[in-house]
Amino acid sequence: MKQLSNRHILLGVTGGIAAYKSAELIRRLKDHGADVRVVMTAAAMEFITPLTLQALSGNPVHTTLLDPAAEAGMGHIELARWADVILIAPASADFMARLANGRGDDLLTTLCLATPAPIALAPAMNQGMWRDPATQANVNILVERSIHLFGPAAGEQACGDVGPGRMLEAEDLAQRCAELFNSRLLDGVQLTITAGPTREAIDPVRYISNHSSGKMGYALARAAADAGARVTLISGPTNLPCPERVTRIDIVSATEMHEAAMAAMGQCQIFIACAAVADYRPINCAGQKIKKDNDSMQIELVRNPDIVSAVAKHAERPFTIGFAAETQDLLHYARDKLQRKNLDMIVANDVANSSIGFNANDNAVTVLTTKGEQSIAQMGKNQLAAQLIQLIAQQFLSTKQEGL
Ligand code: PMT
Repeated sequence: MKQLSNRHILLGVTGGIAAYKSAELIRRLKDHGADVRVVMTAAAMEFITPLTLQALSGNPVHTTLLDPAAEAGMGHIELARWADVILIAPASADFMARLANGRGDDLLTTLCLATPAPIALAPAMNQGMWRDPATQANVNILVERSIHLFGPAAGEQACGDVGPGRMLEAEDLAQRCAELFNSRLLDGVQLTITAGPTREAIDPVRYISNHSSGKMGYALARAAADAGARVTLISGPTNLPCPERVTRIDIVSATEMHEAAMAAMGQCQIFIACAAVADYRPINCAGQKIKKDNDSMQIELVRNPDIVSAVAKHAERPFTIGFAAETQDLLHYARDKLQRKNLDMIVANDVANSSIGFNANDNAVTVLTTKGEQSIAQMGKNQLAAQLIQLIAQQFLSTKQEGL
């Protein structure tokens, strides 16, 4: 694993029974050529001694924020700058909660706030603590801030429970750390994503729309930026903050989304249509609020432009990916859309299942190309987005190579 050679790895150890595995982790990281410095929280020292980790790392172990001796040598800001990566293994539920809240109440949290280096967490805790909504909410916040999550694995736990919460093994963690130094798959690639719903005005106070929250599209934008892409997010109305390093263009209607997408042609190499675009809009938008004078009313609708089809037909056609949101015959309709809209790839999403469809935090999809299909099992939209971006990047790069 030459990527770890001469790398500065700051290993944070927090309080949990898996802290004993940190000793083995230090040995593995050093075997691969890394220079390792260790920071321990007060709780970690209840499980393993600083002396053990000092002997294995060959460097003094840092344990307190305001230690005059350390500040005279390698102080906390120097440590934050020294690190090429901060790996926290094990990361306890309490530590993740403090990190998610931006606390700087000990050396390790302060380092995480101060460092420009990537941060990776290897969670380790009881399965009930991992599944608890508070922990899951903290995990989502941390992933949204581009903190990497290594694991946890599922299996038998020290307390006798069985489930997710086991820390990954030392060699797996070393491998995941090495991958952080791989050049990023989409470095410099221009990528446009549509996300969220569109709103089609009936009058100044009413509109036609759908249940899309934007979560899936925003997660894709974040994952693409993490993979090095320059991302433009064309977003319908949502309540979500714009991911870091992403340029957002806010639109309301399908017509506006179409215009923004067409304006991106020429500069865009990959286009992902994740938005739930209204297929029809009222032919006229009333100038004033419509009064309820009659027992019934009719609204005449006209077809909206099909944005992803227009992108796929464009003279400067990017690598084009669509989504298919279906409530029945998912794969049949997805294959039809792949062909009819002339797409490179389509992501089939069963929106009849409320745990994975509109506005859900999870998703499960099947990705189809003309050459085959691949399913991704249910997981958080952020994690699923990272896997989808990897698949998209691989297909994009191999198509580019075939074209050479
Ligand atoms: O936003 P979330 O709450 O996280 O939910 C995610 C999602 C369910 C919206 C997302 O995963 C998803 O499936 N998005 C596609 C929704 C959709 O409109 O699917 P469709 O099967 O109707 O459309 C097929 C494709 O054509 C889509 O890529 C769509 O963006 C595109 N399209 C559709 C109509 C239109 N006028 N222009 C388009 O570009």
